[in-house]
Amino acid sequence: MTHNSSAVNILRSDYQPLAWTVERVDLRFHLDATATVVTNHMTFVRNPDVPNGPVRLWGDPATRISVCANGQPAALREVNGVLEVGVEESSDSSFRLEVITHVNPQANTALSGLYLSQGGFFTQCEAEGFRRITYFPDRPDVMACFTVTLEAPSEACPILLSNGNLVDRGTLTGHKGWHYARWEDPYPKPSYLFALVAARLMPIERRVKTESGRDVLLQVWVEEGNLDRATFALDVLVDALRWDEETFGLELDLDRFMIVAVSDFNMGAMENKGLNIFNAKYVLAKPETATDFDYAGIEGVVAHEYFHNWTGNRVTCRDWFQLTLKEGLTVFRDQQFSADMLARAAGPQGAASARAVKRIADVVRLRATQFPEDSGPMAHPIRPESYQGINNFYTATVYEKGAEVVRMLHTFLGVEGFRQGMDLYFNRHDGQAVTCDDFVAAMADANDVDLSQFLLWYSQAGTPRVTARGIWKPEKKNYVLHLTQTTLPTPGQALKQPLLMPIAVGLIGPDGEDLPLKLEDESEEASVSTKVLVFGKTSQTFTFTDIEVDPVPSILRQFSAPVILDLEELDSRLAFRMAHDSDPFNRWDAASRYSERIILALAEDPECGVPEAYITAFYALLVDQSLDPAFRAGALTLPSEAYLLQKMTPSDPAALRAAIISLTRKLGATLAIDWLRLTLSLWDNGPYRYHPTDAGRRALSNLALRYLVAGGDPHSISVAISRFSSANNMTGLMGAINALMTTSGPARDAVLITFRKRHDRDALTLDKWFAIQASAWRWDKKSPPTLERVIELMNDPAFSLSNPNKVYALLGSFFRGNPAEFHAPSGAGYAFWARQVIALDEVNPQVAARMARALEGWRSYTPELQTLIHAQLVSVRERTTLSTDVAEIIEKALA
Ligand code: TRP
Ligand code: ZN
Repeated sequence: MTHNSSAVNILRSDYQPLAWTVERVDLRFHLDATATVVTNHMTFVRNPDVPNGPVRLWGDPATRISVCANGQPAALREVNGVLEVGVEESSDSSFRLEVITHVNPQANTALSGLYLSQGGFFTQCEAEGFRRITYFPDRPDVMACFTVTLEAPSEACPILLSNGNLVDRGTLTGHKGWHYARWEDPYPKPSYLFALVAARLMPIERRVKTESGRDVLLQVWVEEGNLDRATFALDVLVDALRWDEETFGLELDLDRFMIVAVSDFNMGAMENKGLNIFNAKYVLAKPETATDFDYAGIEGVVAHEYFHNWTGNRVTCRDWFQLTLKEGLTVFRDQQFSADMLARAAGPQGAASARAVKRIADVVRLRATQFPEDSGPMAHPIRPESYQGINNFYTATVYEKGAEVVRMLHTFLGVEGFRQGMDLYFNRHDGQAVTCDDFVAAMADANDVDLSQFLLWYSQAGTPRVTARGIWKPEKKNYVLHLTQTTLPTPGQALKQPLLMPIAVGLIGPDGEDLPLKLEDESEEASVSTKVLVFGKTSQTFTFTDIEVDPVPSILRQFSAPVILDLEELDSRLAFRMAHDSDPFNRWDAASRYSERIILALAEDPECGVPEAYITAFYALLVDQSLDPAFRAGALTLPSEAYLLQKMTPSDPAALRAAIISLTRKLGATLAIDWLRLTLSLWDNGPYRYHPTDAGRRALSNLALRYLVAGGDPHSISVAISRFSSANNMTGLMGAINALMTTSGPARDAVLITFRKRHDRDALTLDKWFAIQASAWRWDKKSPPTLERVIELMNDPAFSLSNPNKVYALLGSFFRGNPAEFHAPSGAGYAFWARQVIALDEVNPQVAARMARALEGWRSYTPELQTLIHAQLVSVRERTTLSTDVAEIIEKALA
């Protein structure tokens, strides 16, 4: 797919249903690495809502062998890249079409459609990969029943899988050494949910009974050598199945549910009906190779894909503009699931803290990835109005902000109200392809509320800024809180309207206890310690009554809305909330805001020093034994560079990095004894289990070790080295390496060499080795620029531009995870970026476009950096062979 200068903008408002849809599909694959024959029999039926029109098919002309209608060669027309089959207006209301295509899986490095990985055949069809396999009305509003026959050599591909149930298998007559399998999916589905796998794999499996008593088979398929890493994914699958039954009354609707791990995959995983295909990174884990963070990722993604079976598959999207209908909702569901699993493991005592830790992690991610997107050239509403390449819209906005929008509904309607909305949604729309409006309508109707203003979240881009100003009126014993909201213009959307959002508020008394809250005009209701305000105007005033003392406000508890909160707060109030806020999220947020202030001041003036009061407040959290270690680790972690860069005008990555290094060193050195005590007391090298209590201890022990080493304590390096050599799990090992990465001596190089030797044949673990080095900071200005090492690693035999995990580990970590080195004043990082984007675009446009996005925010950097970036953006734009995906990103960046 090459780009010509007149890129096509696809508009949401152009949606038209098709005149003909498919009722049944019968696919036959004769699988060959370079010439697979695909025979596709489709039964078309007229759409009664559309009076007449041709059959429309999307496909790749290079693959087309023949198209026959009711047994005769069909009359075809090509209209704007769509194949039209003429149908007599008088003809029957149904007819059969047979399409034969030849595809070359081996040449398919884009990993969309049918491709090869480690000698096996795999598919990825979302969003528009099915049209690279055969001709079909490849849109999510066409839902058909699929039957699939796979034919392949038994030796190379002993396992043949597709969606639904296995109905037949045997040896293939006429093809010595070949076999076949036939699969039938009883549920109609859009083509993007089709999948096949033909490979040499082994299963681990479990049989469970669903709530209604049906026996179902759950399987995780991996390469034989990875069988010892598949159990955790299977355990999570069982938990997810139970959770959806208990939480939403949603049962597994198939007799068999499979997860397949593959090494080459563009994204995290894919929810194909009954046959989820996963990036191996989100399946495989054992303590020696996976960190707590990896385990958490697997938990989230396995659950996410499983939950899609209802939110995405049973009820799907009418068109791709509605993507957040399935993604935002399913991310919300997986976030809730993970929070519940953490709370369950932590027990009644630790549950609230465990939930808060999960919420903090989700918000950190939102602020680091979605906020910048929402203020840059790619800013779009969670339901976009237009796109050139749909692959570019699998964004943090559609996913993460989309989940926040669903969460706000949950906050407004409550657990019960939300459940009723979900029930109505499925009652109305099971088996349909619907819109975001349908979802919100179900929520509104089930609760008898008006959500018309709330719908603006679906059409308005940009992160709202909410300003909170409060004043205590001693004479009336009132606290008056004044809220205002504004949203800056985004591309193509200059004027913004006020949004409807829940703002959770607490007022803290001088003793640190929450005051009972009652709103002036709500005399009937009992007082609460956290009040959810319904905020929907540009400016609004809320009066709390019977407030006897001047309180400290705690606004946006639990991060109740995806906004930037502007709250003028003295340092002393931040310190007070760090110590006393009863809402753990806001307690963490207070620490994060305080750290942010100190770092930004140091970035402005490196000599300004670190106030004693900050160190005291920080120290108080460090030694507070009543706080769970996971929470303390979060609160003592400095805010991310991606987040802080947004707070600088202009963004100056070098100054920011210097400030973070200086603060880390200062905290490390000043509190060295405490870090040492902490890292040793929490260190536990007993048998590993993925458990929130253990993971929290490991996180805090690792963090303490890093501060200790960064602080320059002379003995700390040997503590880190001994930990590296004794750690029995990857989390502890990575903690030691991360600590040593703050040094530049021989110990650092030695552990990297040992790590490489130890994991030389393990691709997933080597990704960590690439990522650590690409994200390396220069703590010592005498060290060479990180770019030099990245360029060396490009030539490492284990690196490959055609494996997305390798690209994300090396290039992604450098472009996105290492701003100060990437944005080095020489501009060398940018020239490297341009070369890699162009090279990658030839191999895999989706991955190239993701890397291209690393510079879309260029207008926020210093003038010197802007000039350098601009030159590279222009040089990429000048290429005439860019993919639609990359061209769209570059064009929008330069617009
Ligand atoms: N639907 C998948 C998910 O979020 C996303 C996905 C997987 C995807 N692979 C893809 C999207 C390839 C676009 C292209 O669960
Ligand atoms: Zn998803």
